[in-house]
Amino acid sequence: AALGNRNITWHPSLLRHERNQLRGQRGFTIWFTGLSASGKSTVATALEQHLLHLGVAAYRLDGDNVRFGLNKDLGFSEKDRNENIRRIAEVAKLFADSSTVALTSFISPYRADRQVARDLHTNASPAGDGGLPFIEVFVDIPLSEAEKRDPKGLYKKARAGEIKDFTGISAPYEAPESPEITIRTDELSVEECVIKIADYLRERDLIG
Ligand code: PPS
Repeated sequence: AALGNRNITWHPSLLRHERNQLRGQRGFTIWFTGLSASGKSTVATALEQHLLHLGVAAYRLDGDNVRFGLNKDLGFSEKDRNENIRRIAEVAKLFADSSTVALTSFISPYRADRQVARDLHTNASPAGDGGLPFIEVFVDIPLSEAEKRDPKGLYKKARAGEIKDFTGISAPYEAPESPEITIRTDELSVEECVIKIADYLRERDLIG
């Protein structure tokens, strides 16, 4: 269908199935969400490495390659976080459509934003062909534990009022209600978290 009066037409990704067959792999997105210092990036990086060693094409999007590049114009207001997550979801979807496993590790504090990301992958619409698996991983640790870790000293600054809108202190974190996977990084080792996620993927034939 032509979109509005912009004379652009959406072309469905006709080669996805053929690409998956040729590459012997189906693309999907593993979406990590959790407080700052919950361990999202640590687990996502270990999982990315694990998948690469299995011969699975995997690519992680996180703050280092997104907030310093694509999203360097965005801050931490609710509106900017909405846009941050929307763009990341669009990029993850493109990786997944290219038969790659996209791993994203962003706080993504708003339930509605994570739903937008999920819908973009799974629902057929003029903005996507749908049918891409979306696996939400809740990196669940108590705020007190994240605050104790405080590797960058940001919680301390937020408590002192030096950083405004800080997630968990002066901005909300809306925990997932039905994530595909929950990991407790204060109870499991990084390896155990990776095994838990890899087992889930294997049980659903997403990896061999
Ligand atoms: S979001 O909410 O998903 O858009 O955030 P994200 O892109 O994941 O960025 C979170 C990292 O930015 C640092 N930081 C802040 N976090 C939360 N609130 C405020 N106000 C803030 N300001 C800077 C913080 O180091 C987060 O890093 P992680 O890796 O999550 O600990």
